[in-house]
Amino acid sequence: MSSSHVIRVREATPADLEAIIDIYSLAFDENIMNQLMYPKGFTASCRKAFGSRFLPEQPAEDGKTSTGGKKQTLVCVAEYLPKGDSTDGPGEIVAFAKWGLQREPLSEEEWKNETFEATHEGWGDDCDITVVNTFICEMNRIQRDHAKGEAALYLHIIGCAPARQRSGAGSALMQWGVNLADSLGLPSRLEASPAGYGLYRKFGYEDVAVMDVKVSEIWGRTKPPGSNWGENNAIDLAGPVPPGAQRTVIMRRPQKTAIV
Ligand SMILES: CC(C)(COP(=O)(O)OP(=O)(O)OC[C@H]1O[C@@H](n2cnc3c(N)ncnc32)[C@H](O)[C@@H]1OP(=O)(O)O)[C@@H](O)C(=O)NCCC(=O)NCCS
Repeated sequence: MSSSHVIRVREATPADLEAIIDIYSLAFDENIMNQLMYPKGFTASCRKAFGSRFLPEQPAEDGKTSTGGKKQTLVCVAEYLPKGDSTDGPGEIVAFAKWGLQREPLSEEEWKNETFEATHEGWGDDCDITVVNTFICEMNRIQRDHAKGEAALYLHIIGCAPARQRSGAGSALMQWGVNLADSLGLPSRLEASPAGYGLYRKFGYEDVAVMDVKVSEIWGRTKPPGSNWGENNAIDLAGPVPPGAQRTVIMRRPQKTAIV
């Protein structure tokens, strides 16, 4: 990390939501799957749907959430502060991460009953729901079938504003997450995009499975020169990525075992 600035991580508040949505739309702009999910761009309807499901769900009056209280959502932002500025005041929000904390295992019945189905209500009128189902929902199913309900800290998503990438914000958010997992003695799980894979390896996440989506065959899109479709990721586990496919890697970081 450059020494010209400080990165500060804190839990997000509703006041951060617009900044988070802006960062998301910019950070994933070059991702082929996002281009396919949002063929008209990240329009107002998509922004609204994304924002409405992003922050932690407020429990109902009886204290219950839709996941029966077993999964807690945590959202953090990373603030960028030029060195020399007071670190008391607000910084520039440059990155975010959303985690799902499940402290207890799910029963076999519970995890096998977890279903994933995208809707326009959840994703916005301009979103291509078929792509979301082929990509995000299938990725969630693969993760579910490997996790088998184990208690874990799950990374839903992380993104950094392109102009502030490689400033250490992504690492600071990952450090926050692995510290939490370690303090609770939990493993951590995620699905790695091509751009995120190297960062996750650095934090001790291991390859579990891959999902190669046949982008060229299904949607007729060819890989632009120099773009990253995950062709160098998880080769030891799964071999080369088929031509025209984009690789997502299902990853798990083992829990820290106590030193005796
Ligand atoms: C993945 C992502 C969140 C990383 O955020 P970031 O703030 O750039 O992360 P960091 O600055 O902590 O470091 C990331 C990488 O840059 C390197 N780096 C950090 N500071 C650097 C510097 N000053 N000079 C050179 N390299 C640097 C790190 O070593 C790391 O490299 P590695 O991944 O090859 O190990 C960001 O690239 C992003 O938003 N990508 C698009 C969205 C996406 O795909 N998100 C992941 C979804 S699964």
